[in-house]
Amino acid sequence: MFPPGHAQPQDPDAPIRATDNDAALARLSAVKKNYLQDAFVKDLVPRAHLQPSRPPLINIGTYVRSHAIDLLVGEWLQMAKASGTKVQIVSLGAGSDTRFWRIETGPAKDELAKYIEVDFTEVTTKKAMAIRKSKQMNSLLGDPEKVQVAGGGTGLRSPKYHLIPADLRMPPTVSLGPVLTAGESTEGGPLLSPSLPTLIIFECVLAYMSPEASARLLRWFVDYSSTGPEEGGILGCLVYEMFNLHDAFGRVMVSNLQARYVSIPGAEPFTTLESLSKRLTDEGFSAARALTLREIRRAYIEQSELERISKLEFLDETEELDLVLEHYAISWGLYLQNPGSSSSWGHWGLKQQRL
Ligand SMILES: C[S@@+](CC[C@H](N)C(=O)[O-])C[C@H]1O[C@@H](n2cnc3c(N)ncnc32)[C@H](O)[C@@H]1O
Repeated sequence: MFPPGHAQPQDPDAPIRATDNDAALARLSAVKKNYLQDAFVKDLVPRAHLQPSRPPLINIGTYVRSHAIDLLVGEWLQMAKASGTKVQIVSLGAGSDTRFWRIETGPAKDELAKYIEVDFTEVTTKKAMAIRKSKQMNSLLGDPEKVQVAGGGTGLRSPKYHLIPADLRMPPTVSLGPVLTAGESTEGGPLLSPSLPTLIIFECVLAYMSPEASARLLRWFVDYSSTGPEEGGILGCLVYEMFNLHDAFGRVMVSNLQARYVSIPGAEPFTTLESLSKRLTDEGFSAARALTLREIRRAYIEQSELERISKLEFLDETEELDLVLEHYAISWGLYLQNPGSSSSWGHWGLKQQRL
């Protein structure tokens, strides 16, 4: 971290990479306080047992975001099961996320064909090392003969899980695209297949890139999915992001980040929920929706869950919680190459639980 007053770092991307520490520590805190279950995050955070917990407001925010994303990913996997297909998931700017291991130890593991994570080289190198050191994470990568450290220690390959170093701001046609579509899998074939429904996840990453670079990346995945077989490619996209930063509270968020030399050009143009879904439809998604974390907490999380987490910690700042949650949103979009033949995928999305 680079607290205010510290000299500007020589590598301008170092503060962006450091946001992964914040995300991992927030997750660890929510796990320690029983908001979330995650047996793996402690293996990715140095001295996890010594890390202090976050305030209740942060724990609740982390819970709402993670639970909603889990619901969307879980439904994607369930739809695969119902359609008798396997799916592939690509997590861009994955940082220290543990979703692959949580899926592999859950009921939907057989629906997962590939899980690919991408981040800056420094982040993937650290993660590859931590995974190799963790007995429980390593053992879930499958046949040890087929688990390989790749790219001189900067990545990992296994039958399902792949960790790839790349700068997402580079044009995907010359950087990420060739890696995903070339013969990089442990079986020798391409990593991705356009014939499998693919979910791309951007969890708190697009804000750090220009809107043009994000648009290019989204468009690349849509174009790739349009090369599917007769029944058509299926692509889902899930984005979690800060937005609505033009009001007083948003301006404070921006200046707090600036004080740590983190700029967020990718959040600037998105001031409404409509603008978030339009980002996806503009790049070729057939349909898209966006909700603030405040709306998700109010109406999209199961009542039993809300009651459970309300007992975990005392929160006396509910107005402040709402204010914070109004500045984060989850958007999701679906691209169907052939909407007629795959209509059940059209129902993918968060489901309202209360009016
Ligand atoms: C706030 S963290 C989120 C990590 C994880 N997705 C999560 O939600 O826990 C942002 C991540 O995006 C990565 N990132 C940001 N810009 C990137 C870029 N241009 N290329 C690759 N990774 C990037 C950072 O290195 C960091 O790991």
